[in-house]
Amino acid sequence: MADALVVEELSKSFGALRAVDGVGFAVKDGDVHSLIGPNGAGKTTVFNCISGFLRPAEGRVLLRGEDVTAWPPHRLIPAGLARTFQITKVFGDLTVLENVALAARSRLGQNLRMWRRASKVTSANVEALEILEMLGLAENASANADHLAHGDKRILEIAIALALRPRLLMLDEPTAGMSAGETEHIGKLVRRIAARTSVLLVEHDMEMVLGISDQVTVMTQGRVIASGTPDAISRDTNVQDAYLGALDARNL
Ligand SMILES: Nc1ncnc2c1ncn2[C@@H]1O[C@H](COP(=O)(O)OP(=O)(O)O)[C@@H](O)[C@H]1O
Ligand SMILES: [Mg+2]
Repeated sequence: MADALVVEELSKSFGALRAVDGVGFAVKDGDVHSLIGPNGAGKTTVFNCISGFLRPAEGRVLLRGEDVTAWPPHRLIPAGLARTFQITKVFGDLTVLENVALAARSRLGQNLRMWRRASKVTSANVEALEILEMLGLAENASANADHLAHGDKRILEIAIALALRPRLLMLDEPTAGMSAGETEHIGKLVRRIAARTSVLLVEHDMEMVLGISDQVTVMTQGRVIASGTPDAISRDTNVQDAYLGALDARNL
């Protein structure tokens, strides 16, 4: 079977800065694959190039063997790629359930207006509720999305992405601004999610990354310096020198 995602020789510059410089890695089907590295390493730029928000200067992106390089997001979503953002994006004045059901509906090509007119429980609502249950958010289904705590808002964002039924879900720092307990919870959810879709995760929390990933790719200064299992990565001396050693001891 083709890999869920293959990135080959990806490059992107901002002016004179080569933010991403010949990056390559492959996400195997069903894996949780983490992309780690210090701030400014180029992780989000890689994400943006894969998900069609930036056009790479060089390189290729293959989704299950299909060349989707520089496809716009509206083509990538039906092709099976969904992502979340480092900054949470939800519809604040809709309920939690409405946010997720809307994503399920959008997959079916129906707009908000038609959806509002539907009075009975629709298949989109059933699907949305099932996703909320899996992520432990069902209790908040009828709450206004704006009233959720920060951590739950991030989980809602994941729920919205899952309602698009991706084959590959890309999460950019889902634990940003979260407590240690919330971070551990998100880690468990990511493993649960991996039962239905491959996951590409950008994450800061080293303990979580090493605990939940099948494969880890390490970037510094726009380049990949190592790729492998959490075990191999934690023993890699290049990684230790370039990255792990610079981290606060509490993260190890
Ligand atoms: N839109 C942009 N314009 C100019 N520079 C950018 C832009 N986006 C990112 N950068 C720069 O590119 C580098 C990589 O950034 P980024 O991909 O956000 O890193 P990471 O997600 O690993 O922290 C950084 O030096 C950052 O300042
Ligand atoms: Mg980033």
